[in-house]
Amino acid sequence: MKAVEQNKDLVEVRLATKNNLYRIAEMTRALTIHLGAFEWTVENHLKHVTRRFLNPRYIHIVAVKGKEIIGFTGAELKSTRTAYMMKGYVEPQHRRKGVMCLMEAMLIETLKKKGINKIDLRVDSNNKEGKNTWVALGYKTIKEVMRKQI
Ligand SMILES: CC(C)(COP(=O)(O)OP(=O)(O)OC[C@H]1O[C@@H](n2cnc3c(N)ncnc32)[C@H](O)[C@@H]1OP(=O)(O)O)[C@@H](O)C(=O)NCCC(=O)NCCS
Repeated sequence: MKAVEQNKDLVEVRLATKNNLYRIAEMTRALTIHLGAFEWTVENHLKHVTRRFLNPRYIHIVAVKGKEIIGFTGAELKSTRTAYMMKGYVEPQHRRKGVMCLMEAMLIETLKKKGINKIDLRVDSNNKEGKNTWVALGYKTIKEVMRKQI
């Protein structure tokens, strides 16, 4: 387990357990609303989160402060060498304190142990905080998706 100090309280990151899935579903809902996507109930998200959690191709990481889960991220193993980063979320009051940085570091460490040497992700081009975070963590744009509303 890794940790950063935040307002004197430790924030720790670790692999998620089954008990954390409801909180992950709540945060997934907040994330999709934040991104302006579909608005599902927490229970609907929970079904998807649980299905992914039970699939060994998925890795889920959570950040914990005291007894509270304050963020999550994860990845899907796509091949023996490549993984796909799931979106990440940190509760607004805990942002800009290195929590995503810590979760991403643990994710990378976990993936490397599985032989992965490349991780891809997608981010909306208007999501400045998301883009800035991934750039700060060393991700580079290699492709752009274009769209025309018709
Ligand atoms: C994106 C998000 C997960 C970042 O989490 P975080 O814990 O605040 O990130 P960190 O504190 O680890 O930030 C690491 C670095 O990323 C960059 N960064 C993060 N948020 C930023 C912002 N709002 N503006 C500019 N740069 C930012 C900075 O370089 C930061 O380092 P610094 O604080 O020392 O300058 C969080 O803002 C979030 O949950 N946003 C809403 C959901 C979302 O957009 N997720 C990404 C979807 S692809």
